[in-house]
Amino acid sequence: MKAVRVRVPATTANLGPAFDAVGMALDLYNEITVSESYQPAVEVRGEGSGSLQGGASNLVYRAAASAAEQAGRHIPPLRIECTNRIPLARGMGSSAAAIVGGIVAANALLQLNLDCDAMLALAAQMEGHPDNVSPALLGGVVASVLDSGGKVRHIRLPAPEDLTAVLAIPDYHLSTSEARAALPEMVSLRDAVFNVSRTALLIGALHSGRHDLMAIAMDDRLHQPYRASLVPGLSNVLRSAVEAGACGAAMSGAGPSVIAFCSCSVGTDVARVADAMARAFNEAGVSCSTLLAKPTESGALATAEHLPTLA
Ligand code: HSE
Repeated sequence: MKAVRVRVPATTANLGPAFDAVGMALDLYNEITVSESYQPAVEVRGEGSGSLQGGASNLVYRAAASAAEQAGRHIPPLRIECTNRIPLARGMGSSAAAIVGGIVAANALLQLNLDCDAMLALAAQMEGHPDNVSPALLGGVVASVLDSGGKVRHIRLPAPEDLTAVLAIPDYHLSTSEARAALPEMVSLRDAVFNVSRTALLIGALHSGRHDLMAIAMDDRLHQPYRASLVPGLSNVLRSAVEAGACGAAMSGAGPSVIAFCSCSVGTDVARVADAMARAFNEAGVSCSTLLAKPTESGALATAEHLPTLA
């Protein structure tokens, strides 16, 4: 019997000002193995075992079914095994990984012949915004625009090798829908200009290795100020990271995690940055874990597996 294994990375979106526009793949991976079966079944190990839905309503399953539907095919019953390492509802792209993983797995297993643009458009439609799904599929740093036809127009930059990411991950969940509900309908022109100019600087800084500009380039007025009430200690965590030597810091995606980038070439003490971030969260009454990750070139990758035939 044939099976496909997909490895899909965690992602950090927004990077401060680039709300719904820019994301980066990180070298923390979920693995999904998909094979045809007699009835729909989803088994989850690691993050989300015991809480994620186990049948055809599971997000990985639904993404696989949507991919088949997009290709005009009826999906056969699938058995899906997920080994999850990306923490759930923490702003590290767990839902994007599930969606992209399901689509890429179905495309490979069922030979749907969806090209990259078709998979990206479907993933962005399911997720509601393209900034996590683009780097989850393509790796690296991806700037994405959803055009009026639902197509994701994107530019991919290489993963910045010189940066190490420090993540402070609070011990509570924050759903993206709750974090988006905190945002205003309208913003001022001044705040829009603040973010547009920083987003441009951020892309330039990442492209040219000008990490000395990251602190100013990662500042934001469009979402973090409104979400701060959902992430106690946020502003102190951001400040502590930079004071401890990080070249820039921001809420990771919709939070509650915070990501700080440290430049390897200036020899930043990443453990000191992680300690400072954890201490700032703790002082606000939030317990958290910390994690080091590298930006990665690897997007979702499918490989064929051969399952032993049952006697
Ligand atoms: N850009 C999204 C947000 C990322 O900030 O709501 C969350 O998935």
